[in-house]
Amino acid sequence: MTTTTSAPTTTTVLDASGVTMRFGGLTAVRDVDLTVNSGEIVGLIGPNGAGKTTFFNCLTGLYVPTEGKVAYKGTVLPPKPHLVTQAGIARTFQNIRLFANMTVLENVLVGRHTRTKEGLWSALLRLPGFRKAEDASRARAMELLEFTGLAAKADHLARNLPYGEQRKLEIARALASEPGLLLLDEPTAGMNPQETRAAEELIFAIRDQGIAVLVIEHDIRFIMNLCDRVAVLVQGEKIVEGPAEVVQADERVIAAYLGTPFEGAPGAAEAAEVEAAEAEAQSTTEGDDK
Ligand SMILES: Nc1ncnc2c1ncn2[C@@H]1O[C@H](COP(=O)(O)OP(=O)(O)O)[C@@H](O)[C@H]1O
Ligand SMILES: [Mg+2]
Repeated sequence: MTTTTSAPTTTTVLDASGVTMRFGGLTAVRDVDLTVNSGEIVGLIGPNGAGKTTFFNCLTGLYVPTEGKVAYKGTVLPPKPHLVTQAGIARTFQNIRLFANMTVLENVLVGRHTRTKEGLWSALLRLPGFRKAEDASRARAMELLEFTGLAAKADHLARNLPYGEQRKLEIARALASEPGLLLLDEPTAGMNPQETRAAEELIFAIRDQGIAVLVIEHDIRFIMNLCDRVAVLVQGEKIVEGPAEVVQADERVIAAYLGTPFEGAPGAAEAAEVEAAEAEAQSTTEGDDK
């Protein structure tokens, strides 16, 4: 007889190893290993052009990596987007991709198609099986709209939603495929601080539903609050990985971000001070040394 233990066992949801992506002479991602475990929110940060989105594209079959492999729950994935979705990985895009002229509800229903068994003929002939599946799909889609706070706008056209709600709708649509892993590419880009906080709450709620999350962000403060573990990509290479506090204090990470300081960032003010002092010193000692 088996007994159930109260402590949930951790399993590896995503296991990417040795992922390399070359475009002609440019190596956008170089030999990156990354795992995401059940119950985790993992962050992927790095300056613009570091290869974050390219890495996501390798995970989701949009790109066929030049080298390396991607496994989901122990099974190596074929690099085909629909098979990756079917396996249980869903994503959102850095540049929102919604069906602008469909309603909010319809956008979520589109996200469900990988999970409905009823085929095209069944839909065309409106067989009882289809009606039943359709009702269930609608119910689930409405549930997801409730969950993401968009239920009141179910009948609005996607293009009429404010920006922050379009990002939420993308998340609702991704969740409609019932994923075990959700990949978010800069989910708070363009959001105001209030929307950003709401997004943070939403991502925690998604994790609490048993979905592991891998999130790309440019905003370090956001990622440090949110993530259990953070990996840093710089010029296609993973330079640091660890708990948020450790990564935040790592001087290589600070250095990688110094090119693009951000308001209120740890070390940014100090760095600016040092820079100013150095410039001052340089101008006063000019001619003194070579
Ligand atoms: N399809 C592509 N063809 C050629 N180069 C690309 C392609 N996609 C991305 N790159 C290049 O790969 C590098 C990483 O880009 P990207 O993954 O978008 O960075 P990030 O998301 O970290 O800002 C950039 O130099 C970019 O120009
Ligand atoms: Mg990107």
